[in-house]
Amino acid sequence: MASTLVIFLVLLSELVVVFGGNFYEDVDITWGGGRGKIVGKGDVLTLSLDKASGSGFQSKSEYLYGKIDMQIKLVPGNSAGTVTTYYLSSQGATHDEIDFEFLGNLSGDPYVMHTNVFTQGKGNREQQFYLWFDPTKNFHTYSILWNPQHVIFFVDGIPIRDFKNEEARGVPFPNNQPMRMYSSLWDAEDWATRGGLVKTDWSKAPFVATYQNFNADACPLGSSTTCSSLRKDWYRQELDSIGQKKLQSVQKNYMIYNYCTDYKRFTQGVPPECRN
Ligand SMILES: *[C@@H]1O[C@H](CO)[C@@H](O)[C@H](O)[C@H]1NC(C)=O
Repeated sequence: MASTLVIFLVLLSELVVVFGGNFYEDVDITWGGGRGKIVGKGDVLTLSLDKASGSGFQSKSEYLYGKIDMQIKLVPGNSAGTVTTYYLSSQGATHDEIDFEFLGNLSGDPYVMHTNVFTQGKGNREQQFYLWFDPTKNFHTYSILWNPQHVIFFVDGIPIRDFKNEEARGVPFPNNQPMRMYSSLWDAEDWATRGGLVKTDWSKAPFVATYQNFNADACPLGSSTTCSSLRKDWYRQELDSIGQKKLQSVQKNYMIYNYCTDYKRFTQGVPPECRN
């Protein structure tokens, strides 16, 4: 009897985690004239794009550090010219920003996953990847781990990028501006697909991206306990040797652009965080 109860409780707690996110409670649809929709009980959200407009939403809360997860199924079929964004950002001219952007493509051609990190209003830290799966067939989890020492990007729990705190070398790190989560689907046919060569095929509109299981294990701004005292695992997390091997393997096999090795662009030398 007791063991049955334990199993029941374990199952129950897992259910609570799996069905934790509710878009009605967690986000506001901010633009798109009805093209962004929360579906059902709040467990699914869809963004759509047609010739007249895209759409977008943002988290109700602001965070200062956190582990933010979202499951996304990207626009299927011919998604050329479309861009799906999912990012954290603070406000103002010297804002910080941590970006995932998914650049669509013709049916069967690969999406590009573009990442960037802005600190104090300055970006220019692009890294781009192909994915090792078709991101339009199923939901995949895209995560940002943001703590005082690292910004780590994960795809399905696999680290793909680690932006380290290099303040000691004069590189600003996002550590004092609270950020919100934002997501949008919009048209960028001028540059998104093959640098703008392939345009959006509006006969395929509306284009739809689908979201579920938003989870922000974060320090909400204004909570009286400071984040470190919450003793969250992610607050001190960094990549162990297995994580570093995974990251290296993704970077070796799937990275298609890295600002750190763009010597033509940085003729005066690559940025300090890229050295060694
Ligand atoms: C689209 O497919 C082409 C051909 O495979 C590829 O060169 C390009 O990187 C892909 N992605 C984008 C966003 O252009």
